[in-house]
Amino acid sequence: SQTNIYPDSSTKTYSYRASIIKGSEDNLQNIEGSYLGPVIRVKKGDKVRVRYENQIPAESIVHWHGLHVSHENDGHPEHVISEGETYYYEFEVMNRAGTYWFHPHPHKHTGEQVYKGLAGLFIVSDKEEEKLNLPQGEYDIPVVIQDRTFNDNKQLQYLGDGQMDRMQGFLGEQILINGKIDNTLNLGANGKYRLRLLNGSNSRAYKLAWDNGEAITVLGVDGGLLKAPKRMSYLMLGPAQRVDVWLDLSQQSENSRIKLVHLPIPLDMMGGGMMNGGMMGNSSSNHLPYDTQFDILEINVGAFAENKDAQLPGELSSFNTLAATDAINKDNPRTFTFAMGGMMEWTINGRTYNGTEVAEEETVKLDTTEIWRINNGNQFSSDPDDDSGMMGGGMHGNGGMMGGQGGMGNMMQMPHPVHIHQLQFNILNRDADKVDDKLWEATKDGFINEGWQDSVYLLPGMQMDLIMRFEDYKGLFLYHCHNLEHEDMGMMRNFKIV
Ligand code: C2O
Ligand code: CU
Ligand code: CU
Repeated sequence: SQTNIYPDSSTKTYSYRASIIKGSEDNLQNIEGSYLGPVIRVKKGDKVRVRYENQIPAESIVHWHGLHVSHENDGHPEHVISEGETYYYEFEVMNRAGTYWFHPHPHKHTGEQVYKGLAGLFIVSDKEEEKLNLPQGEYDIPVVIQDRTFNDNKQLQYLGDGQMDRMQGFLGEQILINGKIDNTLNLGANGKYRLRLLNGSNSRAYKLAWDNGEAITVLGVDGGLLKAPKRMSYLMLGPAQRVDVWLDLSQQSENSRIKLVHLPIPLDMMGGGMMNGGMMGNSSSNHLPYDTQFDILEINVGAFAENKDAQLPGELSSFNTLAATDAINKDNPRTFTFAMGGMMEWTINGRTYNGTEVAEEETVKLDTTEIWRINNGNQFSSDPDDDSGMMGGGMHGNGGMMGGQGGMGNMMQMPHPVHIHQLQFNILNRDADKVDDKLWEATKDGFINEGWQDSVYLLPGMQMDLIMRFEDYKGLFLYHCHNLEHEDMGMMRNFKIV
């Protein structure tokens, strides 16, 4: 159903190229015809050395999203290099088997650079996973989902001129899979597949479901396999999140077709109501509306596959999660509010990114476990007397300039895909009391609270308690909104492990 077909080869993009010095070509998979970087495959315990030469006409640095590495290897914006310069990464892979990824992290330009093609998968395997005999090789398939817009010259078009586009984050007009316009996969009847889904979009979330009504079987999340497969009628996948999915085609006849689709969610007006009609000017883009169904991935079932006897394991992984009682601040969680600040900017606890600045409340101790309570914009409804800044005062309740239910506070709320560098956390609690009823109704069965994660999709009004442990490395790391336009506008801060 994609009508605009643009040849990938004519599109000007940025690209990561890679070659193998030590190891075999199996470590590297280049997706043909794609603008994306390579898929890098490593084992837990491998020592990795990456030579990064910047060949784009802008400062940049590479971040290894989800990996437990030192500050020097984490791609902090303070380490950006200019065109022609080189940066060496050297680290041991300490993470569990899972689907991680890499992308640029220069302050203010991450959104544009990821958009133009700088992103790739970093896939880790380990001994525990090997024993499971999960689908491998051609049965282990990356599925990077991104939305993009092309201009009349068949070139990627990033943002319109309107401030509105930046405030809400980039939304594209069509879906690309693995950096290609062709979103079909030809798979074998009877085959069993592992699909590694990454939402590599700048700001868009997806409500994913199979169009034949079958449940989605989830094997793993950001930080690796779940304890056991989880069946879900649909799945919410926010920016930067990964989910590994089991696909069993044994009920599919040859020449049939199934689709992974986005199901409608009422998100279009979130934060856009006032900005669309009012002071921010109109959005210039004809992006895919959230509130309609569209295709993500089309699977054409062809001749029989060879791995038809592969079995879905009943148990996948054994691990202990962190318990609230382990946390040094269990009665008094560190709280971070992601919200619109007084100066029409996206903030965390009222602050924006300021180089290597770290506030008192952003300093943590090595070898401790903590609970971080993150919430989306709740100060607008919880503190009606706050008059500070242009968003204060009369914009609450129904006395404000928008009137009606919720008032300006809610109108200025948007989802924030929150990401923490350097570690994987467990989710202790997801509180949706203040989430809009319709939005929650349409999404609540799509969230996964189990396992190890590094990115969560925080709906307007939502509050989550995350538990994490600071280990092995002291130093400066980032936490931020992974709506890349929000991040570039400053919705990013450091935390320091001392
Ligand atoms: Cu994928 Cu700091 O981000
Ligand atoms: Cu990251
Ligand atoms: Cu955000």
